[in-house]
Amino acid sequence: MAFLVPVSRIVTGNGGCSLRHFMSEDFLFPDLIYPHLRPHCFGKTIHHFLETGSTNDAARSFAEQGAAEGTVVLAEEQTAGRGRLGRTWFSEKSAGIYASVVLRPLLKPRHAAVLTLGAAVAASEAIERVCGLAADIKWPNDLLLNGRKCCGILSEMQAEGDEIRHVIVGIGINVNQAAFPEDLKERASSLRLEGKQRYSRVEVLCGLLKSFELVYDELQAGNRAGVLQRWAERSSFAFGKQVSVDLGTRQIHGQTAGLEETGSLKVKLADGRVEEVMSGDIVAWR
Ligand code: BTN
Repeated sequence: MAFLVPVSRIVTGNGGCSLRHFMSEDFLFPDLIYPHLRPHCFGKTIHHFLETGSTNDAARSFAEQGAAEGTVVLAEEQTAGRGRLGRTWFSEKSAGIYASVVLRPLLKPRHAAVLTLGAAVAASEAIERVCGLAADIKWPNDLLLNGRKCCGILSEMQAEGDEIRHVIVGIGINVNQAAFPEDLKERASSLRLEGKQRYSRVEVLCGLLKSFELVYDELQAGNRAGVLQRWAERSSFAFGKQVSVDLGTRQIHGQTAGLEETGSLKVKLADGRVEEVMSGDIVAWR
């Protein structure tokens, strides 16, 4: 009897996996993914690590060596997964999706945040299509199921003057985690915990890459407003939500009033003034 063992086109590191483990898990082997993608851009080249520090760091180093737009870096496990605002990203082996995409957008640096919002739209669309779960988007790009975070996005830009050299969009999706560490369990969840079943990470990832490529094509064609509109349609945070936003040096409290064309969140304060929040963390809402 012959076994067809999928072989990654590019696998780096071995992560201590046994053959039995290889065959029993739905690993994100590139050869399982390529056939589901359109052949031209996102995922045309996939680098798959069994273990790496952070896929964003690996993707940045590929980008600096000239990697083409749409190059994807995947890891079964991250030992130094990073989140926004200096946080870490819990990256349990083969339970989540840890993916980074190299982009070389035509956008100006001041509009780069729209890429991150677009990635959140793509992730939310993919999770709905593949798993039938409707995730909310907490500004700027946290996906929530029943108020708990199941996906986060970290975009890192390299620009020179008014030109973007590359942007690495890193996406973490909690897919099949059955539990979270003590310090996260009140705030984090997974598609498995919310949908009460396991999901194929290959299917979720392919859905994500396909959706993200379409959103990205729209941005490259200049339709930022269309992407922001789709973000607002998928987020209960876009309008009329009472929020407290941590800006790092101070907190503001008010009601959300839509997005600026840069992706900043407008917050109407009690005195009627509207603050535009470019970077911050919504720490409380109702
Ligand atoms: C956040 O919500 O704070 C952002 C989390 C981003 C996590 C992903 S996992 C893949 C990529 N590599 C990283 O180190 N971080 C991002």
